[in-house]
Amino acid sequence: MARNGLVLEGNVPLLRAFLFLLLLLLPQPSISGYRQDYHDALHKCILFFEGQRSGRLPPDQRLRWRRNSALHDGASAGVDLTGGYYDAGDNIKFGFPMAFTTTLLSWSIIDFGRNMGPELGNTVKAVKWATDYLLKATAKPGVIYVQVGDAYSDHNCWERPEDMDTLRTVYKIDRAHPGSDVAGETAAALAAASIVFRSRDPAYSRLLLNRAVRVFEFADRYRGAYSNSLHSAVCPFYCDVNGYQDELLWGAAWLHKASRRRAYREYIVRNEVVLRAGDTINEFGWDNKHAGINVLISKEVLMGRADYFESFKQNADGFICSLLPGISHPQVQYSPGGLIFKAGGSNMQHVTSLSFLLLAYSNYLRHANKIVPCGETSASPALLRQLAKRQVDYILGDNPLGMSYMVGYGARYPQRIHHRASSLPSVQTHPARIGCKAGSRYFLSPNPNPNLLVGAVVGGPNSSDAFPDSRPYFQESEPTTYINAPLVGLLAYFSAHS
Ligand SMILES: *[C@@H]1O[C@H](CO)[C@@H](O)[C@H](O)[C@H]1NC(C)=O
Repeated sequence: MARNGLVLEGNVPLLRAFLFLLLLLLPQPSISGYRQDYHDALHKCILFFEGQRSGRLPPDQRLRWRRNSALHDGASAGVDLTGGYYDAGDNIKFGFPMAFTTTLLSWSIIDFGRNMGPELGNTVKAVKWATDYLLKATAKPGVIYVQVGDAYSDHNCWERPEDMDTLRTVYKIDRAHPGSDVAGETAAALAAASIVFRSRDPAYSRLLLNRAVRVFEFADRYRGAYSNSLHSAVCPFYCDVNGYQDELLWGAAWLHKASRRRAYREYIVRNEVVLRAGDTINEFGWDNKHAGINVLISKEVLMGRADYFESFKQNADGFICSLLPGISHPQVQYSPGGLIFKAGGSNMQHVTSLSFLLLAYSNYLRHANKIVPCGETSASPALLRQLAKRQVDYILGDNPLGMSYMVGYGARYPQRIHHRASSLPSVQTHPARIGCKAGSRYFLSPNPNPNLLVGAVVGGPNSSDAFPDSRPYFQESEPTTYINAPLVGLLAYFSAHS
């Protein structure tokens, strides 16, 4: 788009970096000329989770075109595994990203719940929809059910969840087939959620925390990657490429925050070096937790009560510096229009999770009256907040295409998202079953999706700020729960401070 026209050739990199920084940080005369309505975006961002619900829908379900689905999940293993969330545009329940989504929704409430106003109740419900499921999946000691649905069977069909007749195979880890990655993340999710429910429902909170303790113990004692134990089921979908070490630290960090037990602090200090060895510390997503661990733990250092965690703060600072545009070797790439960009598909997951960390860290720094030293320059809390806001505004419409990447928000938004339920006619308008291959014509249709999955944020534009708005381009047009989860916290903050 027009932004490519910045003609400054490579012999003046410093000037270019400076101008780029300026471009990112000047109050953007938004391309759409429209001030973002963060309240509206927050409302929609949370509503999205209702569209991803599996199982029996409650009477207060607001997204009305969805119906009950997958009511026999778990039956083949003699257990009840109904409920939970479909991860994205298919009908599989993948436990690893579901747990990560739960952790980030909980973190959003813990840090920004007071900014949510009337949406707080809906966000708490979105957490509980996940934790009720995770409690079922971890009910048996020494076993965790980590996936329902055969991904190959599912991906071979374009079917509504309400019609599903694909294989609902149940996958588990146990002592002989460990999965410290998915178990560690599940422990993190249960522990984080226990904080959310501490004053709202103390009995439920205790149940979550006790379960988190047990699940973490299992994760730590029976070490291994679930990608080895369940390779053909979980790879290449949610294969843990990065290893399970980070989830053990992450689980311990959340258990420490939730329980304040010294044993977790000691675990973190004792295992820090081994569990971090050789890893990239500047990533944060369902696979790699390192930047999240560093930011989460740094809060305690910044509050002046945990010098033994000092190295985590140094790593968090390093991570923050790597996000600053204009530093001589930025490790994070930005599109010409100013969007954080990482290769590999579904880029928006990086945008929202990294922006969440920027904002969370900005708040921790501000309360401690600190800045981040970055070589010859430094980053203030205000700068971090502005960088995060710039990313959120890009998502909502301040971008070269002038379109919002959240369905149902703004004047222009994605019409052909890669999502089975949204793209097929609803059960209400088309009660008759639509079979596996009969759905293909809806997948291939050039028409907009008939059902608005309000609030869904898609994978987003490519590194040139271009967006095809086409179902087959799943890397750009598919929404996921872990894109939205951190965005809930970001939107809550900006709805209260703008
Ligand atoms: C982004 O998509 C546009 C339109 O499809 C295409 O022309 C461009 O080459 C793509 N850019 C990259 C870096 O893939």
